[in-house]
Amino acid sequence: MPISDEMETGYSNIEDVSGFDLNGNDRKRKSSPVTSCIFSLKDGIGDLVKALQVLQNSKLNIKHIETRPSKKSTSQLEYYVEFETQNGGLNDVKTLLKEQVADLTIPENITPPAKTPKDECPWFPKSVSELDQTSNRVLMYGADLDAEHPGFKDEVYRKRRILFAEIAFNFKHGHPIPRVEYTEEENRTWSTIYRELRELYKTHACRQQRENLPLLEQNCGYGDKAIPQLDDVSRFLQKRTGFQLRPVAGYLSSRDFLAGLAFRVFHCTQYIRHSSDPFYTPEPDCCHELLGHMPLLADKTFAQFAQEIGLASLGASDEEVARLATCFFFTIEFGLCKENSEMRVYGAGLLSSVGELRHVLSDKAVVKQFEPEVTSKQECKITTYQDCYFSTGSFEEATFKMREYAKSIKRPFELKYDPYTNSVEVLDTAASLKRAVEEVQETLLVISSALSKITH
Ligand SMILES: [Fe+2]
Repeated sequence: MPISDEMETGYSNIEDVSGFDLNGNDRKRKSSPVTSCIFSLKDGIGDLVKALQVLQNSKLNIKHIETRPSKKSTSQLEYYVEFETQNGGLNDVKTLLKEQVADLTIPENITPPAKTPKDECPWFPKSVSELDQTSNRVLMYGADLDAEHPGFKDEVYRKRRILFAEIAFNFKHGHPIPRVEYTEEENRTWSTIYRELRELYKTHACRQQRENLPLLEQNCGYGDKAIPQLDDVSRFLQKRTGFQLRPVAGYLSSRDFLAGLAFRVFHCTQYIRHSSDPFYTPEPDCCHELLGHMPLLADKTFAQFAQEIGLASLGASDEEVARLATCFFFTIEFGLCKENSEMRVYGAGLLSSVGELRHVLSDKAVVKQFEPEVTSKQECKITTYQDCYFSTGSFEEATFKMREYAKSIKRPFELKYDPYTNSVEVLDTAASLKRAVEEVQETLLVISSALSKITH
């Protein structure tokens, strides 16, 4: 088959299933009507507690509360409370409140809350530990193989897949990735692929791949004998670029997969393809991840580029996420770069596919310049070689272009990544912007001081 060694990408363009708004609420849920009441207190602050207790006992969600001078007498205070309510039961609340407070006013009209553009944004994780909520939303494969899968009729293989799926489903951020004892058969499959690709990299792979694979051999047990352990690789990457791995059972939506990159987390499969054909897999497997992705993720500028795509995806619309996923596909999976005027490969889908790796550097492949605006509209081929590939001068250049492209993404806020806490801060208030400016000023002071020390 012309595509016998085609690799999948570790993510997919399957329709996004995320249904949550920026605050973590189900965005498909209808918002509750909001009403308000104004009252003053009969005796003292204890009445305020009792009034709020009435609302709480009635299961009404208090949205806002403020104290202000009473319109009836400026020497007195009144209390303004906004709360969500479903239509039923408001009369009971009125009766109960009246017993606790004075001068109670509840408007007859109940208005739904006005939605802001921020409310319309899909929910996204704000810190690395929140990936626990999204990393198991596997859309395809996992423990269930379909009839087309080479391992479908192999009971032993199917049992192994269940084991790997359980590891992924039970994983929580901060835990070590469980070590797996691979079978002789699995290690043999790995060896066959490893030896073949290792040889091809000499003439086809980019410098980062050629330099970092030996480092993985020295530090993480890479070689043609046995499949390396994800936990060893994750620890190594963390020291090199801050990237860490998270075991995943199968395909995630583009949104969930790209969200991981925003926090320098790479969702990584741990199982290996079926041994019947070492050069074919219908889905990403550990050969694709360990040989294609890991050497590049150990490079600082590449890591920055990958994170840039992830950050751009947070809170973006489904259409925008699909375009970013296409950029990911034609760079991190199928990208080429120039090296001393020669074309070289850095995309993992190519670096883990013997046939397509040869094809892409032949005169049969069409190669264009990477321009996110154009690249994001190119059709991704899953079962054949790509109609066209995209090349970049350097990862710095690709990162700059992604940043420029990300500016066109319509979201009513900007995000700032905090590497100390592995979280993103939403820059949408004067206070958050002021804090960000102060951080830049502090960094500039350090740089300025360092500059004065080396120039005197
Ligand atoms: Fe991949």
